[in-house]
This record gives sequence, C-alpha cells and structure tokens, in this order.
Amino acid sequence: MDTSSELQATVDALAQPGKGLLAADESGPTIAKRFERIGVESSEENRRAWRQLLLGTPGLGEFISGVILYEETLGQSADDGTPLPELAARQGIVPGIKVDKGKLALALAPGDEITEGLDGLGKRLAAYRQQGARFAKWRAVYNVSDTLPGLAAVQANAEALARYAAICQQAGVVPIVEPEVLMDGGHSMARCAQVTEAVLHEVFHALHRYGVALEHMLLKPSMVLPGKDAGHAPPSEVAMHTVQVLKRTVPAAVPGIFFLSGGQTPSEATANLDAMNRLAPLPWRLSFSYGRALQEPPLLAWRGDAANAAQAQQALLLRSRLNGMACLGKYDAAQESTAS
Ligand code: 13P
Repeated sequence: MDTSSELQATVDALAQPGKGLLAADESGPTIAKRFERIGVESSEENRRAWRQLLLGTPGLGEFISGVILYEETLGQSADDGTPLPELAARQGIVPGIKVDKGKLALALAPGDEITEGLDGLGKRLAAYRQQGARFAKWRAVYNVSDTLPGLAAVQANAEALARYAAICQQAGVVPIVEPEVLMDGGHSMARCAQVTEAVLHEVFHALHRYGVALEHMLLKPSMVLPGKDAGHAPPSEVAMHTVQVLKRTVPAAVPGIFFLSGGQTPSEATANLDAMNRLAPLPWRLSFSYGRALQEPPLLAWRGDAANAAQAQQALLLRSRLNGMACLGKYDAAQESTAS
C-alpha cells in the first residue's frame, strides 16, 4: 500500500460513526498522580496491569476505534504474553502513540509553555510503527489569562504541531493534532472562545505552510468552556460556542474532531459532546478522545485490586457506550443512573 492509501485506511478505521478514542497515554508523572488518588504505587507492573485491564475489556471495540498509548505500553505484554498493542488490535482498536516529550516554560515568555520532541521524531516513528502504532498524538498547551497565551506561544506551538504532523504523514502515521486551551483559571467562556479561535487559526495556517494533508489528520481540541473557577455552562451553550469557533477555523476537509475532556467530569464531557452532535449537520465527525472522562470511573472501581477487574471493565464499557451515543447525538442522561 502506498503511504496515502495507508493514511486513508487508518483515518477510516478511526473515524467511525458512534466510536471514539481512549487516551491512555499518561506520562510517568501524570499516571503517578492518577494512581495516588486510589492509593496505588506507580510501578511498571501496576501500569501494565492497569492498561492490560483497559485494553482487555470485552466488547470495547464496539465503541472505541483507537487507543493512544504511552511509549512504555507499546513494549509491554499481557499476562499471556500478548503484546498490549496487539490486545487492542484484536478488538479492532487501532493502537496509537503519544510522541511529544512534554511541555516546558517558553523562554522569555512568563506563563507560556512550549511542547518539545521534534528531534529524531522520524526515526522514533519508524520504530513505533514496527511495534504496531498507526497514528500519533502531540499535545500543545495554552494557559489562559487576560494576557496569556502570548503571540509567540501561539505561533511557536502551531509551528511545532505542523512540523510534527508533516513528519508523521511522511512516515505513514496519522497525526492527531492536539492544541489544548486549559480550563484552569477564572476566565470567562468568551475569553476561552477568543483564545481557542486564535490558536486554531494559527494551527491551520501552519499546517498549510507545511503541506499537511488535512484529509489525513485528526484534530483533538478542547471545548469552549468557562474557566474552572468561573462556574459551569449548560451543554447547549458549550455546544453553540464550541461549534461556532470550529466552523470559523477548521476546514471541512478534516475528517474528524475528537475532543479531549480536560478536567470535565465524565458526565459533563458526554453531555457536551452530545449537545454538539445535536447541532448536525456538521462538516466533520465530532467524537471523543477522552483520558480522565473515560478512565476515572474504572480507576475508582479498580483501586489496584485484580479482584475488581471485571467491575472496572464494566465501568469503562458503560462510559464508552454513553460517549458512543453522544457521537450520534443520542445520549440519554437517564442512562447514567444505570452506572455501576
Ligand atoms: P483528558 O481527556 O483527560 O484531558 O486527556 C486527553 C489527553 O489525551 C490529554 O492529552
């Protein structure tokens, strides 16, 4: 298969109606934070056990089309020796890989951050492909205040996202482009909308400059929300503002927009996605690529005890099913009460 057909096949496998992505690519420090909440040590074995539990959930492939893994997981195996990426692939879930090397302070720009990891990326991608990865993820992070993010941060992160996406496509790997406008802070929803629009404009300009094929990438943005310290907005409002910003900035050639959950509760993330899909017809498929909003309920059920595995898998399957419904604009909040 030539590279273009390969990219198309991966996009088709990921962007299916009623399905989304499971983000299970927490870095070392992040997974340690999640485990700490349930009193579990972040050892390599515990991380392997947790991710085996997630990927081995019976029936998961009905609602989950792809999983984003951390580099460590790509090389780990299930108890029976099956490599974890293969465990996912067996369920029809395409394995992907987080390839950025995390963020750090942007020099001379207090409060702004830049994501690193471009050096040697082409070579790393070739190795990840060998291990089964067919798509990748790179996350850029934008802090919000009256003055943040600065123009330099918006431009530098757009440039890095576009270079990453171009390198991925050249390697036959579908890039997920993730610009995350953070929820932290007391900013208004209007400010979030303003920042998100500026960020996405810059990202798509950069993608164009680097010759990235929009048909062969996916976007993973944050939703337009008020800052965490500024209260909540109803799903209808989140949907209206988010879709307005996306319509202004994201070309229709992009096949799918897979939101991150970013600190919303699991049910908020589902309700907001559902409300957007009720605004159909839209030019792109709107779906989920949730980390916390999918993993929190199963993590609380598991608590590091293998005896709780089946219950944890049930919790993951339920959230996946509800989000699958939200992709179709058919989520019914009453189904939440059947949880656990
Ligand atoms: P959350 O859904 O927890 O925000 O995680 C998604 C993700 O992949 C962040 O990079």
